[in-house]
Amino acid sequence: MKKTLALLATLLPLAALADDAADLKASAERGKATYMVTCMACHQPHGNGLPPVFPPFNGSEYVQGDARRLVAIVTKGLTGPLKVKGQQFNGVLIAVDTQFPILKDNEKLADVLNYIRTAWENKADKPITAEFVQKVRDEFKDRTTPWTEAEVLDFK
Ligand code: HEC
Repeated sequence: MKKTLALLATLLPLAALADDAADLKASAERGKATYMVTCMACHQPHGNGLPPVFPPFNGSEYVQGDARRLVAIVTKGLTGPLKVKGQQFNGVLIAVDTQFPILKDNEKLADVLNYIRTAWENKADKPITAEFVQKVRDEFKDRTTPWTEAEVLDFK
């Protein structure tokens, strides 16, 4: 009995990790198709963007970094001067579900984000869930303007 419990205690966290990895992979696979009809036109199939107009996802600190900030960016938009991977941009990202109503579906939005966080050289290891997307939407529901670089650099 003791041995079984000890074994379970070792295996359970491993099982949780394996679950995360499987969920992330499945979500990213679903998200790829959505990426191709939404973000791809600007951020490109290779994820390197089209500098100096469209910033890259591949290696982007915003894509791979804090998940809450990423959801906030894509649901509210981002405007003005912005440095990504040391390159300067100065455009506008319109809240993605305004541009593409299918992304009002939290699951679809989570899938696209899981895709861009694991495609190319990006290596996120925790999935963004539909519940998490809703939580961040609720948190910023009263905000009506896009973010600026100063705000996303110092995201609270
Ligand atoms: C019409 C073109 C266009 C489309 C479509 C588009 N974006 Fe962007 N995106 C931009 C521009 C331009 C910026 C830079 C904004 C700035 O300079 O402040 C940007 C910036 C970003 C950034 C922050 C910078 C970076 O590269 O990490 C993220 C994250 C992002 N977009 C996510 C998305 C996602 C996810 C989609 C698809 C669901 C998408 N965008 C679709 C034009 C677009």
